[in-house]
Amino acid sequence: MALLLWLQSQLSSCWSNISVLGVFLTVFTLLFDFMKRRKKWSHYPPGPVSLPFIGTMLYVDFRNPHLSFNQLHKKFGNIFNLQNCWSNLVVLNGYKTVKEALVHRSEDFADRPYFPVYEHLGYGNKSEGIVMARYGHVWKELRKFTLSTLRNFGMGKKSLEERVTEEVGFLCSAVNSEEGRPFDLRFLVNNAVCNVICTTIYGERFDYGDATFKKLLHLFENSLNEEAGFLPQLLNEVPILLRIPGVPQKVFRGQKAFMDFIDVLIDKHMETWNPAHIRDFTDAFLKEMEKGKVAEENGFSYNNLRLVTADLFAAGSETTSTTLQWAFLYMLLHPEIQSKVQAEIDKVIGRERSPTMKDQASMPYTNAVIHEVQRYGDVVPIGLPHMTYRDTKLQGFFIPKGTTIITNLSSVLKDEAVWEKPNEFYPEHFLDANGHFVKPEAFLPFSAGRRACLGEQLARMELFIFFTTLLQKFTFVLPEDQPRPREDGRFALTSSPHPYLVRAVPR
Ligand code: HEM
Repeated sequence: MALLLWLQSQLSSCWSNISVLGVFLTVFTLLFDFMKRRKKWSHYPPGPVSLPFIGTMLYVDFRNPHLSFNQLHKKFGNIFNLQNCWSNLVVLNGYKTVKEALVHRSEDFADRPYFPVYEHLGYGNKSEGIVMARYGHVWKELRKFTLSTLRNFGMGKKSLEERVTEEVGFLCSAVNSEEGRPFDLRFLVNNAVCNVICTTIYGERFDYGDATFKKLLHLFENSLNEEAGFLPQLLNEVPILLRIPGVPQKVFRGQKAFMDFIDVLIDKHMETWNPAHIRDFTDAFLKEMEKGKVAEENGFSYNNLRLVTADLFAAGSETTSTTLQWAFLYMLLHPEIQSKVQAEIDKVIGRERSPTMKDQASMPYTNAVIHEVQRYGDVVPIGLPHMTYRDTKLQGFFIPKGTTIITNLSSVLKDEAVWEKPNEFYPEHFLDANGHFVKPEAFLPFSAGRRACLGEQLARMELFIFFTTLLQKFTFVLPEDQPRPREDGRFALTSSPHPYLVRAVPR
């Protein structure tokens, strides 16, 4: 009996110790969380109520963040704050605000947040590629090199424009072989756009049916899909979860496979490398690497070669291909606009000669349509995340160094204060009363400032040459048995149209 009583007293004292410990731990964690989330700054932008641990993450639909931002914009104004767990975010909305930050205070907003989720791909100290690189010396060197290499394209015999023109020839043949039957244009356009990047980086194009190419595109699509949603955000905010064995491999399986694929392409390339004969971007980068220690300090390392080429692939293919998919969708939905573009093509270029960039200046209507596709299609609705490089002020609000900045480009491209019909497809946004092409300053699909899109020139060339050549050769119509395609987008970093079928009728 005494033993029982003793056991009982021991148990209850142990239980009360556990309870005390539990209460203590809960209070401690809540206090820790509160201290981490507490904002210490006056004039910090307003925002929704932040909850313990998850902050304001429940206010954002990570599958459609631009829609959530647009609602919060209405409630809190042009500049509002959010909290992803313990990270502070500030969202900038509308042309005036975004321009002031990215252009007038360009350096203050030029940094990028660090992304632990990419570490398993080799991203880290001194090897960050370009897109996700922190603002600084290495990013500047790599950006400068990439821009000038793409611009001059002093390697190989063909200019960038010739490569684009050549690729659109292959694309037209593939479209022609559909013989007017309904098909999904997405795959062919995607193949063609990726081939332009492949010829630029690796010096070779792939046939559209090529098994290796199909695999590359499939892996790439999977890797993009893995970036959207709540889980990647959570892993970025609580990177310790990435240390759980198998987590990165499981969540980012597609990204890893895509990167392995890029490694194989680079390795194959290195086997045939000849410094006397620079064939493409990879060769030019390898030549820089040869310059030794200084070059390495400037970021020209093998790991950066992998990341920069992956960046060019990722940033340069999906965006352009998606814009073209929107372009043909709008032509299906607005046949009268398609006819006007074709009339201009017939007048300026005719039916035989290939379009060139020189034609653009004489084709204001076509140019306006392409710009309106970019505006209304809104392909990168929330841009890429920036980070403040130093403490700064914007429209009277204080934003501390290290704050993640979201530039809501969608709110710029559809800013009611700027555009006459922000929520309609209206090419006249880019034409003056005399039918001349004009570009309003709020046209920012490529963003602005120091981190503005590096591939804008190439993208413009691809959009113009692909669009005009295809409309010169074909009229795109909706197959009779098909419902009217949806006009809203699907978000996975870019916003792309829902799949639709077309018939390409030869002209
Ligand atoms: C229609 C096509 C395209 C659109 C709409 C587009 C849009 C964008 C946007 C919005 C950004 C983020 C800028 C910022 O952070 O403020 C960006 C960055 C970037 N883009 Fe593009 N882009 C396109 C095509 C291309 C092409 C063809 C390439 C490469 C060949 C490319 C390479 C890059 C790179 C490397 C960056 C990162 C720049 C940096 O952080 O310094 N893009 N692009």
